[in-house]
Amino acid sequence: MGVVPNQAPRGMRHCVLTRCAKRGFPPAVGICENQMVTQEKLSVAVIGVGSFGQNHARVYQELAAEGAELVAVVDADLARAQSIAQAHGGQAFASVDEMLAATPNLKAASVAVPTVAHLAAARQLMERGVDVLIEKPLAVTLAEADELIAVATKLGRVAQVGHLERFNPAVRATWQLLTRPMFFEVHRLSVFTPRSLDVDVVLDLMIHDLDIVLKMANSPVRELRAVGLPVLTGKVDIANVRIEFESGCIANFTASRISTERVRKLRFFQPAQYVSLDYSRRDVFSLSIKPTAGGTPEIVPFKPEVSAEEPLRAELSSFLKAVRERSTPEVTLADGRAALALALEIQQQMAEHQKRAHLDELMKGAAGLR
Ligand SMILES: NC(=O)c1ccc[n+]([C@@H]2O[C@H](COP(=O)([O-])OP(=O)(O)OC[C@H]3O[C@@H](n4cnc5c(N)ncnc54)[C@H](O)[C@@H]3O)[C@@H](O)[C@H]2O)c1
Repeated sequence: MGVVPNQAPRGMRHCVLTRCAKRGFPPAVGICENQMVTQEKLSVAVIGVGSFGQNHARVYQELAAEGAELVAVVDADLARAQSIAQAHGGQAFASVDEMLAATPNLKAASVAVPTVAHLAAARQLMERGVDVLIEKPLAVTLAEADELIAVATKLGRVAQVGHLERFNPAVRATWQLLTRPMFFEVHRLSVFTPRSLDVDVVLDLMIHDLDIVLKMANSPVRELRAVGLPVLTGKVDIANVRIEFESGCIANFTASRISTERVRKLRFFQPAQYVSLDYSRRDVFSLSIKPTAGGTPEIVPFKPEVSAEEPLRAELSSFLKAVRERSTPEVTLADGRAALALALEIQQQMAEHQKRAHLDELMKGAAGLR
Protein backbone atom coordinates (compact mmCIF):
# COMPACT_ATOMS: atom_id res chain seq x y z
CA MET A 1 0.00 0.00 0.00
CA GLY A 2 1.42 3.39 -0.91
CA VAL A 3 0.64 6.83 0.46
CA VAL A 4 -0.28 9.87 -1.54
CA PRO A 5 1.38 13.08 -0.44
CA ASN A 6 -1.75 14.78 0.86
CA GLN A 7 -2.50 11.74 3.05
CA ALA A 8 1.00 11.49 4.47
CA PRO A 9 1.72 12.63 8.02
CA ARG A 10 2.30 16.36 8.15
CA GLY A 11 6.08 16.10 8.79
CA MET A 12 6.60 13.64 5.93
CA ARG A 13 4.45 15.67 3.55
CA HIS A 14 6.49 18.80 4.22
CA CYS A 15 9.79 16.96 3.87
CA VAL A 16 8.79 15.23 0.63
CA LEU A 17 7.41 18.32 -1.02
CA THR A 18 10.43 20.39 0.00
CA ARG A 19 12.87 17.78 -1.30
CA CYS A 20 11.03 17.38 -4.58
CA ALA A 21 10.81 21.10 -5.15
CA LYS A 22 14.48 21.60 -4.28
CA ARG A 23 15.70 19.05 -6.80
CA GLY A 24 13.11 19.56 -9.47
CA PHE A 25 11.81 15.95 -9.21
CA PRO A 26 8.12 15.16 -9.74
CA PRO A 27 6.88 13.27 -6.66
CA ALA A 28 6.05 9.55 -6.98
CA VAL A 29 4.87 7.09 -4.41
CA GLY A 30 6.33 3.76 -3.25
CA ILE A 31 7.20 1.39 -0.46
CA CYS A 32 10.74 0.88 0.77
CA GLU A 33 11.94 -1.62 3.37
CA ASN A 34 8.38 -2.14 4.61
CA GLN A 35 7.97 1.54 5.45
CA MET A 36 5.61 3.90 3.78
CA VAL A 37 7.75 6.44 2.02
CA THR A 38 7.11 8.86 -0.77
CA GLN A 39 9.70 8.66 -3.54
CA GLU A 40 10.63 10.90 -6.42
CA LYS A 41 10.76 9.61 -9.96
CA LEU A 42 14.38 9.04 -10.87
CA SER A 43 15.42 8.89 -14.50
CA VAL A 44 18.11 6.26 -14.96
CA ALA A 45 20.22 4.86 -17.80
CA VAL A 46 22.39 1.81 -18.44
CA ILE A 47 25.67 2.21 -20.30
CA GLY A 48 26.75 -1.07 -21.88
CA VAL A 49 23.95 -3.62 -22.26
CA GLY A 50 26.02 -6.70 -23.01
CA SER A 51 25.72 -9.98 -21.17
CA PHE A 52 25.56 -8.36 -17.72
CA GLY A 53 24.37 -4.80 -18.39
CA GLN A 54 21.12 -6.06 -19.89
CA ASN A 55 20.23 -7.30 -16.38
CA HIS A 56 20.59 -3.76 -15.04
CA ALA A 57 18.07 -2.62 -17.67
CA ARG A 58 15.65 -5.40 -16.71
CA VAL A 59 15.93 -4.65 -12.99
CA TYR A 60 15.51 -0.87 -13.41
CA GLN A 61 12.32 -1.65 -15.32
CA GLU A 62 11.21 -3.84 -12.41
CA LEU A 63 12.03 -1.03 -9.98
CA ALA A 64 9.45 1.29 -11.54
CA ALA A 65 7.35 0.80 -8.41
CA GLU A 66 10.20 2.37 -6.42
CA GLY A 67 10.27 5.39 -8.75
CA ALA A 68 12.96 4.26 -11.23
CA GLU A 69 12.34 5.32 -14.82
CA LEU A 70 14.64 3.74 -17.40
CA VAL A 71 15.00 6.55 -19.94
CA ALA A 72 18.05 5.41 -21.92
CA VAL A 73 20.21 2.45 -22.81
CA VAL A 74 23.57 3.01 -24.45
CA ASP A 75 25.71 0.50 -26.28
CA ALA A 76 28.45 0.95 -28.86
CA ASP A 77 26.50 -1.73 -30.71
CA LEU A 78 23.37 0.31 -31.51
CA ALA A 79 21.34 -2.72 -32.65
CA ARG A 80 21.98 -4.27 -29.24
CA ALA A 81 20.93 -1.06 -27.46
CA GLN A 82 17.75 -0.97 -29.56
CA SER A 83 16.80 -4.54 -28.76
CA ILE A 84 17.32 -4.01 -24.99
CA ALA A 85 15.39 -0.71 -25.11
CA GLN A 86 12.55 -2.50 -26.84
CA ALA A 87 12.51 -5.19 -24.16
CA HIS A 88 12.88 -2.99 -21.07
CA GLY A 89 12.14 0.60 -22.04
CA GLY A 90 14.06 3.81 -22.66
CA GLN A 91 15.59 5.26 -25.78
CA ALA A 92 18.57 3.59 -27.48
CA PHE A 93 21.86 5.42 -28.11
CA ALA A 94 25.24 4.40 -29.50
CA SER A 95 27.29 6.70 -27.25
CA VAL A 96 27.20 8.43 -23.87
CA ASP A 97 27.61 11.79 -25.65
CA GLU A 98 24.46 11.39 -27.73
CA MET A 99 22.54 10.11 -24.73
CA LEU A 100 23.56 13.02 -22.48
CA ALA A 101 22.59 15.53 -25.15
CA ALA A 102 19.12 14.00 -25.44
CA THR A 103 18.39 13.35 -21.73
CA PRO A 104 19.25 16.48 -19.73
CA ASN A 105 17.26 15.29 -16.70
CA LEU A 106 19.14 12.05 -16.25
CA LYS A 107 19.91 11.49 -12.55
CA ALA A 108 21.68 8.13 -12.30
CA ALA A 109 23.29 5.47 -14.47
CA SER A 110 24.82 2.01 -14.31
CA VAL A 111 28.16 1.68 -16.08
CA ALA A 112 28.43 -1.89 -17.39
CA VAL A 113 30.83 -1.45 -20.30
CA PRO A 114 34.03 -3.58 -20.27
CA THR A 115 36.29 -2.65 -17.34
CA VAL A 116 38.83 -0.91 -19.58
CA ALA A 117 36.11 1.62 -20.51
CA HIS A 118 34.72 2.28 -16.97
CA LEU A 119 36.74 5.44 -16.30
CA ALA A 120 35.87 7.26 -19.54
CA ALA A 121 32.14 6.52 -19.30
CA ALA A 122 31.78 7.16 -15.55
CA ARG A 123 33.79 10.40 -15.66
CA GLN A 124 31.69 11.75 -18.51
CA LEU A 125 28.49 10.96 -16.63
CA MET A 126 29.65 12.42 -13.32
CA GLU A 127 30.84 15.61 -15.03
CA ARG A 128 27.29 16.02 -16.34
CA GLY A 129 25.81 15.67 -12.84
CA VAL A 130 24.82 12.00 -13.09
CA ASP A 131 25.34 9.62 -10.12
CA VAL A 132 26.91 6.30 -11.06
CA LEU A 133 26.95 2.65 -10.20
CA ILE A 134 30.16 1.31 -11.76
CA GLU A 135 30.38 -2.43 -12.33
CA LYS A 136 33.18 -4.39 -10.68
CA PRO A 137 36.14 -4.37 -10.95
CA LEU A 138 36.10 -0.61 -10.44
CA ALA A 139 38.92 -0.10 -12.96
CA VAL A 140 41.95 -1.78 -14.46
CA THR A 141 44.59 0.27 -12.59
CA LEU A 142 44.79 2.06 -9.24
CA ALA A 143 45.50 5.32 -11.07
CA GLU A 144 42.12 4.98 -12.83
CA ALA A 145 40.40 4.07 -9.55
CA ASP A 146 41.95 7.12 -7.89
CA GLU A 147 40.79 9.34 -10.70
CA LEU A 148 37.23 8.04 -10.35
CA ILE A 149 37.36 8.71 -6.59
CA ALA A 150 38.77 12.22 -7.18
CA VAL A 151 36.08 13.12 -9.74
CA ALA A 152 33.24 11.76 -7.57
CA THR A 153 34.55 13.61 -4.49
CA LYS A 154 35.14 16.90 -6.30
CA LEU A 155 31.72 16.88 -7.93
CA GLY A 156 29.81 15.50 -4.92
CA ARG A 157 28.44 12.56 -6.91
CA VAL A 158 26.99 9.41 -5.36
CA ALA A 159 29.19 6.63 -6.74
CA GLN A 160 28.85 2.94 -5.96
CA VAL A 161 30.79 -0.13 -7.14
CA GLY A 162 28.92 -3.21 -8.35
CA HIS A 163 30.27 -5.74 -5.85
CA LEU A 164 27.06 -7.70 -6.23
CA GLU A 165 27.80 -10.40 -3.66
CA ARG A 166 27.45 -7.82 -0.87
CA PHE A 167 23.75 -7.91 -1.74
CA ASN A 168 23.54 -11.69 -1.94
CA PRO A 169 20.96 -12.57 0.75
CA ALA A 170 23.16 -15.49 1.89
CA VAL A 171 26.03 -13.05 2.54
CA ARG A 172 23.66 -10.70 4.33
CA ALA A 173 22.48 -13.57 6.56
CA THR A 174 26.10 -14.46 7.37
CA TRP A 175 27.16 -11.17 9.00
CA GLN A 176 25.18 -12.05 12.14
CA LEU A 177 27.23 -15.27 12.53
CA LEU A 178 30.67 -13.63 12.30
CA THR A 179 32.66 -13.60 15.52
CA ARG A 180 36.38 -14.06 14.80
CA PRO A 181 36.92 -15.85 11.50
CA MET A 182 40.41 -17.39 11.43
CA PHE A 183 40.37 -19.54 8.29
CA PHE A 184 38.50 -19.01 5.00
CA GLU A 185 38.32 -21.52 2.16
CA VAL A 186 36.77 -19.99 -0.97
CA HIS A 187 35.98 -21.55 -4.36
CA ARG A 188 34.56 -19.72 -7.35
CA LEU A 189 34.66 -21.94 -10.43
CA SER A 190 32.96 -21.27 -13.76
CA VAL A 191 32.55 -23.14 -17.00
CA PHE A 192 34.35 -21.28 -19.80
CA THR A 193 32.41 -18.67 -21.76
CA PRO A 194 34.14 -16.14 -24.03
CA ARG A 195 33.21 -13.07 -21.94
CA SER A 196 35.13 -10.57 -19.78
CA LEU A 197 38.33 -11.68 -21.54
CA ASP A 198 39.70 -8.13 -21.29
CA VAL A 199 40.67 -9.07 -17.70
CA ASP A 200 42.06 -12.21 -16.01
CA VAL A 201 40.19 -14.55 -13.65
CA VAL A 202 41.33 -12.56 -10.60
CA LEU A 203 39.68 -9.33 -11.82
CA ASP A 204 36.79 -11.22 -13.39
CA LEU A 205 35.79 -13.67 -10.62
CA MET A 206 38.06 -13.75 -7.58
CA ILE A 207 37.55 -10.05 -6.90
CA HIS A 208 34.01 -10.80 -5.64
CA ASP A 209 35.46 -12.95 -2.85
CA LEU A 210 38.36 -10.60 -2.17
CA ASP A 211 35.83 -7.86 -1.42
CA ILE A 212 33.74 -10.11 0.86
CA VAL A 213 36.71 -11.60 2.76
CA LEU A 214 38.37 -8.18 3.18
CA LYS A 215 35.15 -7.03 4.85
CA MET A 216 34.71 -10.19 6.95
CA ALA A 217 38.35 -10.50 8.07
CA ASN A 218 38.45 -6.76 8.83
CA SER A 219 42.24 -6.70 9.10
CA PRO A 220 45.09 -5.50 6.85
CA VAL A 221 46.85 -8.05 4.63
CA ARG A 222 50.22 -9.15 6.03
CA GLU A 223 51.37 -11.58 3.36
CA LEU A 224 50.15 -13.23 0.20
CA ARG A 225 51.25 -16.08 -2.05
CA ALA A 226 49.70 -16.68 -5.46
CA VAL A 227 49.88 -18.95 -8.46
CA GLY A 228 47.99 -18.40 -11.71
CA LEU A 229 48.04 -19.86 -15.19
CA PRO A 230 46.64 -18.90 -18.57
CA VAL A 231 45.15 -22.07 -20.06
CA LEU A 232 42.52 -21.20 -22.67
CA THR A 233 43.04 -17.46 -23.04
CA GLY A 234 46.07 -15.18 -23.10
CA LYS A 235 45.39 -14.15 -19.46
CA VAL A 236 45.34 -16.10 -16.18
CA ASP A 237 42.32 -18.45 -16.25
CA ILE A 238 42.91 -20.31 -12.99
CA ALA A 239 44.39 -18.95 -9.78
CA ASN A 240 45.04 -19.99 -6.22
CA VAL A 241 45.87 -17.45 -3.51
CA ARG A 242 46.76 -17.68 0.17
CA ILE A 243 46.46 -14.53 2.25
CA GLU A 244 47.52 -14.02 5.83
CA PHE A 245 45.97 -11.05 7.60
CA GLU A 246 47.56 -9.06 10.44
CA SER A 247 44.99 -10.66 12.77
CA GLY A 248 46.45 -14.10 11.98
CA CYS A 249 43.42 -15.06 9.91
CA ILE A 250 44.29 -17.09 6.79
CA ALA A 251 42.24 -17.15 3.57
CA ASN A 252 42.64 -19.56 0.66
CA PHE A 253 40.98 -18.59 -2.62
CA THR A 254 40.62 -20.66 -5.79
CA ALA A 255 39.07 -19.09 -8.88
CA SER A 256 38.74 -20.67 -12.29
CA ARG A 257 36.89 -19.76 -15.47
CA ILE A 258 37.79 -23.03 -17.19
CA SER A 259 36.13 -25.49 -14.85
CA THR A 260 33.77 -28.32 -15.77
CA GLU A 261 31.35 -27.27 -13.03
CA ARG A 262 30.03 -24.09 -11.46
CA VAL A 263 30.88 -23.63 -7.78
CA ARG A 264 30.41 -20.54 -5.59
CA LYS A 265 31.35 -21.43 -2.03
CA LEU A 266 32.82 -19.64 0.93
CA ARG A 267 33.48 -21.52 4.14
CA PHE A 268 35.08 -20.23 7.31
CA PHE A 269 36.08 -21.46 10.73
CA GLN A 270 36.07 -19.40 13.91
CA PRO A 271 36.33 -20.41 17.58
CA ALA A 272 33.78 -23.21 18.20
CA GLN A 273 32.03 -22.67 14.85
CA TYR A 274 32.08 -23.65 11.17
CA VAL A 275 30.07 -21.60 8.64
CA SER A 276 29.36 -22.61 5.04
CA LEU A 277 27.89 -20.19 2.52
CA ASP A 278 26.79 -21.12 -0.98
CA TYR A 279 26.43 -17.91 -3.03
CA SER A 280 24.62 -19.71 -5.88
CA ARG A 281 22.12 -21.64 -3.83
CA ARG A 282 21.84 -18.66 -1.47
CA ASP A 283 22.19 -20.97 1.42
CA VAL A 284 24.01 -20.64 4.77
CA PHE A 285 24.68 -23.39 7.27
CA SER A 286 26.64 -23.44 10.51
CA LEU A 287 27.79 -26.00 13.06
CA SER A 288 28.66 -24.79 16.55
CA ILE A 289 29.95 -26.64 19.54
CA LYS A 290 27.98 -25.84 22.67
CA PRO A 291 28.58 -26.94 26.29
CA THR A 292 25.81 -29.05 27.89
CA ALA A 293 24.79 -29.65 31.49
CA GLY A 294 26.03 -33.25 31.20
CA GLY A 295 29.56 -32.10 30.40
CA THR A 296 29.83 -33.54 26.89
CA PRO A 297 29.56 -30.63 24.43
CA GLU A 298 27.10 -31.04 21.57
CA ILE A 299 27.28 -29.99 17.95
CA VAL A 300 24.42 -27.63 17.12
CA PRO A 301 23.45 -27.08 13.47
CA PHE A 302 21.87 -23.76 12.45
CA LYS A 303 20.44 -22.45 9.19
CA PRO A 304 19.69 -18.72 9.27
CA GLU A 305 16.74 -17.50 7.27
CA VAL A 306 17.82 -16.21 3.85
CA SER A 307 15.58 -13.85 1.91
CA ALA A 308 14.66 -14.63 -1.70
CA GLU A 309 15.47 -11.16 -3.06
CA GLU A 310 17.51 -11.05 -6.27
CA PRO A 311 20.94 -9.56 -5.40
CA LEU A 312 20.94 -7.19 -8.40
CA ARG A 313 17.55 -5.84 -7.41
CA ALA A 314 18.77 -5.26 -3.84
CA GLU A 315 21.93 -3.61 -5.20
CA LEU A 316 20.18 -1.21 -7.59
CA SER A 317 17.48 -0.41 -5.05
CA SER A 318 20.17 0.45 -2.50
CA PHE A 319 21.98 2.61 -5.10
CA LEU A 320 18.81 4.55 -5.93
CA LYS A 321 18.16 5.06 -2.21
CA ALA A 322 21.66 6.55 -1.81
CA VAL A 323 21.01 8.78 -4.86
CA ARG A 324 17.73 10.04 -3.43
CA GLU A 325 19.08 10.58 0.04
CA ARG A 326 22.52 11.85 -1.09
CA SER A 327 23.96 9.28 1.33
CA THR A 328 27.11 7.14 1.21
CA PRO A 329 26.38 4.03 -0.86
CA GLU A 330 26.67 0.59 0.75
CA VAL A 331 29.69 -0.26 -1.42
CA THR A 332 31.90 2.79 -1.90
CA LEU A 333 34.54 3.53 -4.51
CA ALA A 334 37.07 3.14 -1.68
CA ASP A 335 35.84 -0.45 -1.17
CA GLY A 336 36.19 -1.04 -4.91
CA ARG A 337 39.71 0.38 -4.82
CA ALA A 338 40.69 -1.84 -1.87
CA ALA A 339 39.52 -4.99 -3.68
CA LEU A 340 41.29 -3.84 -6.85
CA ALA A 341 44.53 -3.09 -4.97
CA LEU A 342 44.52 -6.60 -3.53
CA ALA A 343 43.73 -8.13 -6.94
CA LEU A 344 46.62 -6.22 -8.53
CA GLU A 345 48.99 -7.36 -5.77
CA ILE A 346 47.86 -10.93 -6.48
CA GLN A 347 48.60 -10.42 -10.19
CA GLN A 348 52.11 -9.26 -9.31
CA GLN A 349 52.70 -12.26 -7.03
CA MET A 350 51.47 -14.57 -9.81
CA ALA A 351 53.90 -12.96 -12.27
CA GLU A 352 56.76 -13.44 -9.81
CA HIS A 353 55.80 -17.06 -9.30
CA GLN A 354 55.76 -17.59 -13.08
CA LYS A 355 59.29 -16.19 -13.20
CA ARG A 356 60.50 -18.36 -10.31
CA ALA A 357 59.01 -21.43 -12.00
CA HIS A 358 60.51 -20.39 -15.38
CA LEU A 359 57.01 -20.38 -16.87
CA ASP A 360 57.16 -16.85 -18.26
CA GLU A 361 59.39 -17.76 -21.22
CA LEU A 362 57.28 -20.83 -21.95
CA MET A 363 54.07 -18.83 -21.99
CA LYS A 364 55.32 -15.83 -23.95
CA GLY A 365 53.46 -15.83 -27.22
CA ALA A 366 51.22 -18.75 -26.17
CA ALA A 367 48.09 -18.82 -28.31
CA GLY A 368 44.95 -17.89 -26.44
CA LEU A 369 41.26 -17.32 -27.15
CA ARG A 370 40.39 -13.62 -27.22
N1 LIG B 1 28.73 -7.82 -10.87
C1 LIG B 1 28.83 -8.95 -11.55
O1 LIG B 1 28.53 -10.01 -11.04
C2 LIG B 1 29.31 -8.91 -12.97
C3 LIG B 1 29.09 -10.02 -13.80
C4 LIG B 1 29.53 -9.93 -15.12
C5 LIG B 1 30.17 -8.79 -15.58
N2 LIG B 1 30.37 -7.75 -14.72
C6 LIG B 1 31.07 -6.53 -15.18
O2 LIG B 1 30.21 -5.84 -16.06
C7 LIG B 1 30.98 -5.20 -17.07
C8 LIG B 1 30.51 -5.69 -18.45
O3 LIG B 1 30.71 -7.07 -18.55
P1 LIG B 1 29.92 -7.97 -19.62
O4 LIG B 1 30.26 -9.37 -19.31
O5 LIG B 1 28.48 -7.57 -19.67
O6 LIG B 1 30.65 -7.53 -20.98
P2 LIG B 1 30.07 -7.61 -22.46
O7 LIG B 1 31.27 -7.54 -23.34
O8 LIG B 1 29.12 -8.75 -22.60
O9 LIG B 1 29.21 -6.28 -22.63
C9 LIG B 1 29.79 -5.01 -22.71
C10 LIG B 1 28.91 -4.16 -23.64
O10 LIG B 1 29.42 -2.83 -23.62
C11 LIG B 1 29.40 -2.33 -24.95
N3 LIG B 1 30.44 -1.29 -25.00
C12 LIG B 1 31.78 -1.42 -25.06
N4 LIG B 1 32.39 -0.23 -24.99
C13 LIG B 1 31.40 0.69 -24.90
C14 LIG B 1 31.38 2.10 -24.77
N5 LIG B 1 32.51 2.81 -24.71
N6 LIG B 1 30.18 2.72 -24.72
C15 LIG B 1 29.03 2.03 -24.78
N7 LIG B 1 28.99 0.68 -24.88
C16 LIG B 1 30.16 0.02 -24.92
C17 LIG B 1 29.67 -3.53 -25.83
O11 LIG B 1 29.16 -3.32 -27.14
C18 LIG B 1 28.92 -4.63 -25.08
O12 LIG B 1 27.59 -4.79 -25.54
C19 LIG B 1 32.44 -5.54 -16.79
O13 LIG B 1 33.03 -4.53 -15.99
C20 LIG B 1 32.34 -6.81 -15.96
O14 LIG B 1 33.43 -7.02 -15.10
C21 LIG B 1 29.94 -7.78 -13.44
